[in-house]
Order: sequence, then C-alpha cells, then structure tokens
Amino acid sequence: KGLGGIVNMRDFEKTAKEMLSAVGWAYYSSAGDDEITKIANNTDYQKVTFRPRILRQVAKADAATEILGHKSTIPVMISPAAMAKLGHPLGEVNLTRGAGTTGIIQCISSFASCSLEEICAARSPSQPLFFQLYVNSKRDLAAEVIKKVNKLKLDAILLTVDAAVGGKRERDLRLKGSFEPPSTGAYEKHEDTKGVSEAMFAGVDPDLHWDDIKWIRTQTDLPLLVKGIQTVEDAVLAYKNGADGIVLSNHGGRQLDTTSTGLHTLLEIRKHAPYLLRPEYRGQTGVSQALLDNPENLTPPDLKDAKPLDRKFEIWVDGGIWRGTDVVKALCLGANAVGVGRGFLYAQTVGGDKGVEHAVGILQSEILLVMRLLGANKVEDLRPSMVNVKE
Ligand code: FNR
Repeated sequence: KGLGGIVNMRDFEKTAKEMLSAVGWAYYSSAGDDEITKIANNTDYQKVTFRPRILRQVAKADAATEILGHKSTIPVMISPAAMAKLGHPLGEVNLTRGAGTTGIIQCISSFASCSLEEICAARSPSQPLFFQLYVNSKRDLAAEVIKKVNKLKLDAILLTVDAAVGGKRERDLRLKGSFEPPSTGAYEKHEDTKGVSEAMFAGVDPDLHWDDIKWIRTQTDLPLLVKGIQTVEDAVLAYKNGADGIVLSNHGGRQLDTTSTGLHTLLEIRKHAPYLLRPEYRGQTGVSQALLDNPENLTPPDLKDAKPLDRKFEIWVDGGIWRGTDVVKALCLGANAVGVGRGFLYAQTVGGDKGVEHAVGILQSEILLVMRLLGANKVEDLRPSMVNVKE
C-alpha cells in the first residue's frame, strides 16, 4: 500500500489492522483486562489545553532536541515494543533504518524478533540505540544480555519495571497465538500454549528489587533509566537509587488496567516532587508566575528559588501519544522527551523502513505546526505557562 494516503499516525493503525494477521493485530493492539488504561492514555491529553502566545516570529521554528545527550530530530523516540516481525518480515531492522535516516532514537525490546547483531548491522555510523532490559530470573542469562549490549556499544539501558508478571491481555488469550521466540537471547524457549504475551513473560523475574539496580550497575557503565514508573513515590525512589532517569509509562495499558497515565504521573511529580524537574519546568501551569510577580514582564524567566538537581535526571513519558499536540503538552509539563510504541509498530507494518520515515515526517510536521501556533521556536521554549490543566 502507498504511504500517500497516510496523513496522521492513526492512519497507520487503520491500515495496519487490514494488513496484520489476526495474531499480529491481537498482540499489537491488546491491553490489560478491559483496556481502560489504554484508552485513558490517549484521552488524558484532552485535559490539557494550550495557551498560545502570538506574534513571536516563528518562521524558523525547530523541533530538534537532545535525549541523554544524543541529538534527535524530534523529541520523540521509538518505545521498545516486542516482535516487530509480526508486522513486517524485516521487523526491528525497519525501525533501526527509519530511525537512522531521520535522526531519531530507537529503544530495542528485550523481546525483539531480530537479533541484536542484525539490528546493529542496520545501524548507521554513530546512530544512538537504547536497549530495554527484562531481567531473567536466571541472573547469568541477564548478565549475558547486558554483556552483549556493552559489546555492541548500545547507548543506554531502560529497565522495565511495570511487568513483574505479564498483564491479562484477552485479545491475545483468545487466539493463543503461535509465535517465534525472540532472538535477543533474553530468555529461553518454552512451550507456547497461552498466547504470545503470556508465553514471553515466563522468564521475567517477578522478584526484582531496587537493589537489583545496583547489580545492573556492576554489569555496565551505560546510563540506566527505569521504565514503567507510575507514582511520584517511585519516581523519587528511582532518583534516590541512582537512576539516570525514568519513563513514566503504564506499558501502553498492557499491564495493570485502570492505573493512571504517564501524563497523570507527570502531574503528580509536578505537585509533590517538583525538584525532580528541570528548574524552568517547576513553575505553575496557566498564567505564568513571572506575569503574576511582575505584570510588565512577559517573558517567563527561571523561577527564582529553583535549584538544579545534583545530577542530570531525565523524565520521559509514553502511552497514547499519537499527535504533535500530545508531544508538546508533555514537554510543556516538563518531560524531556516522549516515546511512541504502537504508532511505530504500525508504521513499519504498513511501509517497512519507509513507513517509519513517513511516521517521523508526520510527527515532525505536526510538532512544528503546534510549536509555531503556540509561539515557541525551540523545544527549550516550551513552558508550563503554555498550558492549562483541567483537574
Ligand atoms: C510494548 N511495550 C513494551 N515495553 C517494554 O518495556 N518491553 C517490551 O518488550 C514491550 N513490548 C511491547 C509490545 C507491544 C506490541 C506494545 C504495543 C508495547 C510497551 C511500550 O514500550 C510502550 O510503553 C507503549 O507501547 C507506549 O504506548 P503506545 O505508544 O503504544 O500507546
């Protein structure tokens, strides 16, 4: 199918649904129980409205940013999502190529269907790649995977913590889909009788603990982020336990159903632990503090009493991001970047690496449009005062 008719990210979803096998569609689209969190991930963004500023000379707007010090064309990365080959024969390699040519960052799943070697062979020179880690209950297997990640010079590890056990994904269970085991070596083969996701989680250690972060640190010098933080308490614990950042995520609604969303957790952090945010993002939403302090002053400076943390700590958000407006809202509220999971899986299903390129192009033009209409020329210009949040 041509990509010409695809004008937004949801178009990829509609087209992919027609192209995927029943098992593939069930696995990609499924979420926990009644899929309430999956829907909320998207609709929660409607609680945030923009406060556009005008006449700000936006001809030269630029959506580029840095993620963990790596350049990225847009403040969006490819969230780790398993089994890309269910959608397209080249699987994760499509994501690697598409990310390479467009200059964005891909995070590879522990359950990728291509091997790490295959993925790294498709990597363009100095292309950053992150790795998502599930820790196997057999620590020697986990150690092997981390060793490989070090050897292949990947750039960061995201430890997923919202999946002590796999969620109850009923679309999957109904089909009891057959699947080829992932090739990253993250776990062993086993009998496939329970649907794709249940079979995959069999090796993941439900006894993982904060102390395991120390163990991972002994195995690698790479930046380590904790993915799947859903409360401000755990955001603070991740910081205290030495993480380089967190991903506010509920796994695309695929784990515990009726949890709150990444966006909601970001709001919790704003309220109860604002010191985790970069100083200029700790201000209130709505009418800017600077304006309240001094009505003459229309350019919000950093808040007076805001001190930086003792080290860099990035906050990413994923789940339900389909539009440039979603991306920009999360950034206004203090996220350094966001992740997109299903959107990119569907894009590679529909058009392989070209589909991924097309998806990045769509997101980039939407983000630029939003920034211009909002009065922001650079990603760093986005501020809490540019949004209102409905309680
Ligand atoms: C995921 N996700 C995921 N996360 C992770 O840490 N390891 C994994 O192997 C997977 N696998 C996976 C498979 C599929 C099919 C999906 C849809 C998702 C979760 C993923 O990283 C991310 O958190 C969500 O996909 C974000 O939500 P959206 O963008 O899909 O709404």
